[in-house]
Amino acid sequence: MPVLLAIESSCDDTSAAVVDGTTVLSNVTAGQAIHEEFGGVVPEHASRAHQRNIVPTVAVALRRAGVTADDIEGVAFTRGPGLIGSLMVGVSFAKAFGLARGIPLVEVDHMQAHVLAHFARRAGAEDAAVPTFPYLCLTVSGGHTQLVVVHSALEQEIIGRTIDDAAGEAFDKSGKMLGLSYPAGPQIDKLAAAGTPNISFAKPDPGGLDFSFSGLKTSVLYTLQKRLRADPDFVADHLNDICASIQATIVGILLRKIELAVEQTGLTQVALAGGVSANRGLRAALHARAAERGWTTFVPPLEYCTDNAAMIGVTGQFKLAAGLTAGQDVSAAARL
Ligand code: KG4
Ligand code: ZN
Repeated sequence: MPVLLAIESSCDDTSAAVVDGTTVLSNVTAGQAIHEEFGGVVPEHASRAHQRNIVPTVAVALRRAGVTADDIEGVAFTRGPGLIGSLMVGVSFAKAFGLARGIPLVEVDHMQAHVLAHFARRAGAEDAAVPTFPYLCLTVSGGHTQLVVVHSALEQEIIGRTIDDAAGEAFDKSGKMLGLSYPAGPQIDKLAAAGTPNISFAKPDPGGLDFSFSGLKTSVLYTLQKRLRADPDFVADHLNDICASIQATIVGILLRKIELAVEQTGLTQVALAGGVSANRGLRAALHARAAERGWTTFVPPLEYCTDNAAMIGVTGQFKLAAGLTAGQDVSAAARL
């Protein structure tokens, strides 16, 4: 398989990777701390930062991989879905690089790439277990919550999705009410470790394999308002327990749907993808349930869970092998 340069710029992280087949030679991500101040990603700031970061990020990715531009045989890039201004920076860079070097372009769907992140191998760890097709994948991030049957690398069937907020948003928005900075998910994870889930919040259920989190957000808000009226120090004095309760509620919702999806599909290989798969409560609950039920679980290393270019490169390899290249007329798409 060829050596590909991969570019990911769908949200607030500028990421570049070099992959040789599915072996990741480098995976470099420049984050954007500026969004912390605003409590969320501001699209205008994000695209400007991508513009500043993209060239240095690619330069570092090439250097860390020990290759030069001459060694690159194709460019894979995220075409969408995502923030249009952010995507345009990565797509334009990829097209220019491909044109200048006379090498093929491969457009990648960001969501499809999250699901295939399981095939990204760290150099030296090529023998790590990967799922076999078909498998079930729960993609949970700040922008998405989807249950997918992965029939093959290029054939993915969405069998459940959120009808409102994503799971990561439920973490981030609940955390904001507690005065935590953006993104609050990792902080809730840390605070929850020293707490007890002794507060009950609503577990909205739209039925079937779909998810809903907006009712949970409202439930957290009302519960906090009520408790704060009785005790103005409630949040400060019970932060760990509140975080543990929010986390347990979200994890409970996710696990219930995984269970249902396994029942309906008969698939017992269960994979996690997306930034929320970093959550220790979710990992522990999944592993415990898997041990009870006899499922096999796959959770990618953290750097391949969050938005990253390595997963774009690996997906690019599958597409290139199938002859799916893009022309110079390809353009970014906020929705795919
Ligand atoms: O995949 P990702 O990096 O970006 C996209 O949204 O596409 O996911 C980011 C999301 C944020 O909502 C963040 O709060 C959440 O993942 N997250 C976590 C943890 N680490 C990241 N949520 C809960 N626990 C974590 N440890
Ligand atoms: Zn993502």
